[in-house]
Formats: sequence, C-alpha cells, structure tokens
Amino acid sequence: MTDLLLLPGDGIGPEVTAQVRRVAEKLTPDLSLDERPFGGISYDQLGTPLADETLAAAKAARAVLMGAVGGPQWAAAPRDKRPEAGLLALRAGMGVFANLRPALCFQPLADASSLKREIVEGLDLMIVRELTGGIYFGIPRFIEDLPGGGRRAVDTQVYTTAEIERVARVAFELARGRRNKVASAEKSNVMDSGLLWREVVTDLHKRDYADVELTHILADNAAMQLVRAPKQFDVLVTDNLFGDILSDAAAQLTGSLGMLPSAALGVAGTPGLYEPIHGSAPDIAGKGVANPLAAILSFEMALRWSLDRPAEADRLYAAVGAALEAGARTADLGGSLTTVQMGDAVLARL
Ligand code: IPM
Ligand code: MG
Repeated sequence: MTDLLLLPGDGIGPEVTAQVRRVAEKLTPDLSLDERPFGGISYDQLGTPLADETLAAAKAARAVLMGAVGGPQWAAAPRDKRPEAGLLALRAGMGVFANLRPALCFQPLADASSLKREIVEGLDLMIVRELTGGIYFGIPRFIEDLPGGGRRAVDTQVYTTAEIERVARVAFELARGRRNKVASAEKSNVMDSGLLWREVVTDLHKRDYADVELTHILADNAAMQLVRAPKQFDVLVTDNLFGDILSDAAAQLTGSLGMLPSAALGVAGTPGLYEPIHGSAPDIAGKGVANPLAAILSFEMALRWSLDRPAEADRLYAAVGAALEAGARTADLGGSLTTVQMGDAVLARL
C-alpha cells in the first residue's frame, strides 16, 4: 500500500512537490511514495486530467498530496477535460467533503502581510470549506444559445441537509480542540440554500454542540470582517464557493498565498487529499522561484491527519518556523530564495 501518492500536476506544482519529496525522504524515509500525472499534463499524456488508474491509486493510498493544476495552455480544452475538472473529479471521487484551510500567521511573517502587523499577528483561524457539493457540482449547468441572439448560462447551487450537517459537524469537532467558537457563513438573506444551511447548522448545534459558541454571519460580511478583524474568528465553516473565495482572502492575511496548506477529509478511515491552496501560477512556473512552504505544510497536515505521525508533523512545523525565523524568504515573501533554497532551509532545520 502506498503511504503518500504525489500528484505534482501543472505549473509550479512539480517544483513545490519536489521539495515535499525531499522533506519526506529525510523526515519519514520509511513512508512509501508514489507519483502520477494529474491535471493538464495528464490530459496531454493520457487524454484525460484524471485517469481511472490515478483515481484508483488515490483511493488506495493513505494520503494524496496534490501540487497545483491548470494553465493557459489548456484554456481551450473541452470543459470536462480541463485540469480543474480533474481536480473536482478527484475531490468528488475521493469523497473528501471537508476542506480544512488553516490561516496561521507565522510570527516572523507578521510584516509580510499587506495588513497591519497588529491585525494579523498571532492569527490562528481555521476555514472549513465544504468541498464536494454546492455550485461546483450542481446540476443543471450549461451555456445555451438564445433564439433571439445572445446566450444564457446556468449554474446550480444545491445543498442537502446531510451535506451541510456532516461538514458542520467537522467544524464543531475542530472548534472543541481549539478556542471553541464556530462562525457559519452563508447568504441566507438572498439564497434558499443559505437559509437551509443556517437552519441545519442551528439544529445540529442545539442537538450535539451546545457547548460550542456559534455565530451566523453573512458571507459578504465575513469577507469584510476577515480583512478588518480576522482574529475574532476561530473556526469559520462555509460552502464550497464562499470557502474558495474567503480562503484566498485569509491566505493573504498570513503574508502570502504561498503559505497556505489545506487538508480535505472524508469519512474516517478514507485517505485525505492535501493541497496547497495556491494555484499553478503560470507566470512564475519553471523559474524555480515558487514558495514551497504551502506544499510542505500540506505534507505536515498529511502527517497529522492521515499518516498518524504527529511527532514528525511537529518537527516539520517547527523546522518551517525556524527557517522563517532565520530570515528564509522566497520572492512572494519579499526575499530572493529559490524554491530549492527554501527547501534547503527547511531540511537544514529538521
Ligand atoms: C482552490 C482552487 C480550485 C477551486 C480550482 C483550481 C479549481 O481555487 O482549491 O481553491 O476553485 O476549488
Ligand atoms: Mg481557490
């Protein structure tokens, strides 16, 4: 059985994933690694962004670490063959409905954020994004030609009680191990799915988690509060689309999109999917300057959540902190280290 399946993907994905491989080989040499094409590169090689064998290998591994997918060269590919479609199929195929996106400001990076130091210093926020439902997967979806000219596009936002409840449960459970606060974000003022979201979260809270402090917040206000006073949040649970948007905003609070890892989890006993939340960054791909820390920290989450190696996770986390403390910075953090040099900086402190 493979312990960790690497899916480097496209753009900067292979560059940052290569640093994860180096870290894994040093920190946990006994873990078995496998690697497969995924995303645009898989489309080029195999005619599909997610081959059946790749999905099967992902489901059979203990953890999967994805680099990034997508790029301008695949913009004209049929929509169901685009790299992003492969990623959605992977998430759905693995059933990883709860996406944990921690926004944690490392002390030495408090000045790297575009926000004032006092607003982000000590930030420790966990976004729980629903990942396998909502408008990303809702049917019908299409673009049609209108008889009188012009076209019409439809996407569907859809959530069931069960889908909302299982992701909210993850948020409440996480909160209990943290500062015991959950904020649930939706648009119940304009969307029926938001109304149901609020009702289901309220019911679940009353039934099983009355000890946790719950607040409801409209998603637009959540965006504003994230850049106004982000430290008010502990766990922020929200749907797939709002979670995508709010987690990019949260990432910038920590200094750079290049810092944020994520863990996508399904039901207990199934493999988790770990991804840096940044994209494939075509503008810097191939230049060797991407920040590998989001990918390395995604491996740290894999060690914790899927691979049962909390001690190694702690060591890796400390090594990343120490590297930053010593001034290691890639370009996104205002420095000049290359991807490999940032990998070196972490490896040296393991
Ligand atoms: C993310 C990304 C993906 C998403 C894209 C690449 C499909 O933005 O993981 O946040 O929208 O989920
Ligand atoms: Mg995103």
